[in-house]
Amino acid sequence: MNNFIYENRTKVYFGQGCVKEFLTCLLRDYDTVMMAYGQGSVKRNGIYDEILNILMKEGKNVVEFSGIMPNPTYEKVLEGAALARDRQVQVILGIGGGSVMDCAKAVSLAARCSGNAWENYWARRGIIDFEPIPVGVIPTTAGTGSECNGADVITNGELKIKTGYDYPRCNPRFALMDPAYTFSVPGEQLAAGAFDSLSHVMETYFSEPDEQNVSDEIAEALMRSIIRNVRLAVKDPEDYTARSNLLWDSTLSENRLIKLGKKCDFSCHLMEHQLGAYTDCGHGQGMAVLHPAYYRHIFRDGLDKFGRFAANVWMIPREKKSREELAAAGLDALEAFIRELGLPTSLRQLGVRDKKQLPVIAGSCHFSPGGYRKMMPEEILEILQECF
Ligand code: NZQ
Ligand code: ZN
Repeated sequence: MNNFIYENRTKVYFGQGCVKEFLTCLLRDYDTVMMAYGQGSVKRNGIYDEILNILMKEGKNVVEFSGIMPNPTYEKVLEGAALARDRQVQVILGIGGGSVMDCAKAVSLAARCSGNAWENYWARRGIIDFEPIPVGVIPTTAGTGSECNGADVITNGELKIKTGYDYPRCNPRFALMDPAYTFSVPGEQLAAGAFDSLSHVMETYFSEPDEQNVSDEIAEALMRSIIRNVRLAVKDPEDYTARSNLLWDSTLSENRLIKLGKKCDFSCHLMEHQLGAYTDCGHGQGMAVLHPAYYRHIFRDGLDKFGRFAANVWMIPREKKSREELAAAGLDALEAFIRELGLPTSLRQLGVRDKKQLPVIAGSCHFSPGGYRKMMPEEILEILQECF
C-alpha cells in the first residue's frame, strides 16, 4: 500500500429517528442556525417541518437559505455567504442531497474567508488557515458521500467550470443520517445516486496499487452491496434495510476510507464535472453515460483488475475465458446494469444537442494522474464522441 494519513472528523448519528433524538443536543452551543435546503422536496416530504419544529422548540434564531439548485452555483454560494455574515450565523444545517450539503460547506468557507473565495479554494487547492462556520448535515439522498467529506463541488457559470477539493477542515461536524429520509427520493434519482456511489468505488478500485490490499477488498464488498440494495430499493422504495445499506454505502464510498493506500483515478468524475458545467446534467446520470466508454478505452491497461471486477463483483465464472474475455464480460455486466436501472446511455439524453460542443468540453477537462493511463484531450474527445 502507498503511505497515507487518515482523518475524518465528522461524527455520524445513523438510524431512524436520529434527528429527533440528537439534533437538540448537537445545537446546544449555538443560537443562530442557518437552515440550508433545496428547491422544495424537504417541504413536500415533511422533513422541513420536523426540523423547524425542533429548532423553534429550542428557541433558535432560524435563518433560512433556500432554493439551492442541483449542481449548485458559485453565485448561490456567495448569496449564502453574504446572508450568513449579515445574520451572524453560528452553525449551518445542510438538509438535502449532495448539492445542498456541498453548498452548505461552501457557504461556511466563503463566509469566513478573506479575498476571492473562488480563486483561493476552487480554482486551485488552497490552504484553509481559519475555521469555517461549523456545518451539520442531514442527507436526504444516498450517493455523493458529501455527508462525511470536505468536498464542495461548485459550478462557476461564468467560467464554465465545475470543481471542488476535499478539504478536511470542511468536513461537517456531524451528520444525522436517517435512511427513512431517503424514502421519497424519486426512482430516477435513486438510480443516479446509487450509480454515483458505485462510480466512487470504481474510480478508486481501478487504480494502483493492484497488489492485494484491504482497500480493494472493501471496495468489492461495497460494489456488491450497492448493486444488491439499489435493486431492492427499486422494487420497494420503502425497504428500510435497502435504504440503510445504500445510505451507508454512499458514505463509505467517499469518506476517504477505501482510498487509503490507493492512487485513485477519478478521470470520469473530472470529465463529468465539465459535462455538468456545460449542460447542467445530473451528476449520477453523467457518470452512467461516461463510465462504460471510458473503461472500454482503458481496460487493457488494467486487464487483470477488470477481470477481478468481473469475477468478484458480477460473479462471472472465470472458466473458459481468456483474460480479455473475462474483463470485457465485466464491462458488459456494468452496461447491462446501467440499462436495467433506466439510466441514460448517451450524451443526447443528457441534453447535449450539438456534437460541435464536444471539443470545447473535452478541452476544458482536467486530467487525473492516478488512472491506468493518462487521458489526453484527443482521447477525452473520442470518448465524448462515442457517448454522443
Ligand atoms: O432541490 P430539492 O427540492 O431538494 O430536490 C432534489 C433535487 O431535485 C431531489 N431530492 C433530494 N432529496 C430528496 C429529493 N427528492 C425527494 N425526496 C428526497 N428525499 O433530488 C434532486 C437531486 O438532488 P442533488 O442534491 O442534486 O443530488 P445528489 O445527491 O446526487 O448530489 C449531486 C451533487 O453532488 C456533487 C455533484 O457533482 C452534484 O453537484 N457531488 C459531490 C460530491 C462530494 N461532496 O463528495 C462527490 C460527488 O462525486 C459529486 O460530484
Ligand atoms: Zn460522484
